[in-house]
Amino acid sequence: MTMATDIGAETILAARGLDLRYGRVQILFDVSIDVRRGEFVALLGTNGAGKSTFLKAVSNLSPISSGRVHFEGDDITLLPPDVIAARGLAHVPGGRGSLPDLTVEENLRLGGHLLRSQKGRLAEGMARAFDLFPWMVTRRRQLAGTLSGGEQQMLAIARALVTEPSMLMVDELSLGLAPIIVEELMGVLKTLNGQGITVLVVEQHATLAMEVAERVLFMEKGQVRFSGDGRDLLGREDLLRSVFLGAGH
Ligand SMILES: Nc1ncnc2c1ncn2[C@@H]1O[C@H](COP(=O)(O)OP(=O)(O)OP(=O)(O)O)[C@@H](O)[C@H]1O
Ligand SMILES: [Mg+2]
Repeated sequence: MTMATDIGAETILAARGLDLRYGRVQILFDVSIDVRRGEFVALLGTNGAGKSTFLKAVSNLSPISSGRVHFEGDDITLLPPDVIAARGLAHVPGGRGSLPDLTVEENLRLGGHLLRSQKGRLAEGMARAFDLFPWMVTRRRQLAGTLSGGEQQMLAIARALVTEPSMLMVDELSLGLAPIIVEELMGVLKTLNGQGITVLVVEQHATLAMEVAERVLFMEKGQVRFSGDGRDLLGREDLLRSVFLGAGH
């Protein structure tokens, strides 16, 4: 089935009919998600719903068994992950995304390794990262492993920005962080979004995500069950019950 024809110019990312299996276990079932250029979307859902797997499927860190992914109008299905990143679709993975034994600056340079043949662009990208997070300038020689959890997440975002992506996919921004830090990080993403970068963020703090995002998606058991305004999702007790009750398991 070809689906390229119904992808409008305002759509930056179109993932259509994605199936993904780990061995014999199917994780994603016919997942279709479109993101409009400039949009801020939050992907919510129960633990194990397949949110991280969806991001990995899009950036081909985990290969899909069927479906197509289009980015910026091009079919990027199953292109190597570094090629996808170089095209401007950045993936900030879950957990602490920086390398602890490297300095802040070395981490940023590593983020720009895709630009290694373009020294000017690397310098620009680094300057942009330092602009957004001025504290990194004076602490450029600090080992990433000695940064606070929130600072490490900022470094992970900054690393992705060095390549000047048009879209950021951010997983588990808030893992183990205090709510106030999570709010700050969401604020950073909002700022980047204001500068024109499309954002898709996987977020555990559902209420915060609903406040910040223009649109929320809700996944359950490898399927998208809701797409729309966060306020409408709040009314869907059938879906949200599993999130709030699930937290106590
Ligand atoms: N490499 C893997 N091999 C086998 N199964 C995996 C692998 N990675 C993930 N899974 C399984 O796929 C399912 C979806 O996992 P995924 O990490 O996408 O969930 P998630 O929605 O991101 O959950 P969480 O909110 O807990 O991060 C889970 O059942 C998980 O155990
Ligand atoms: Mg996850």
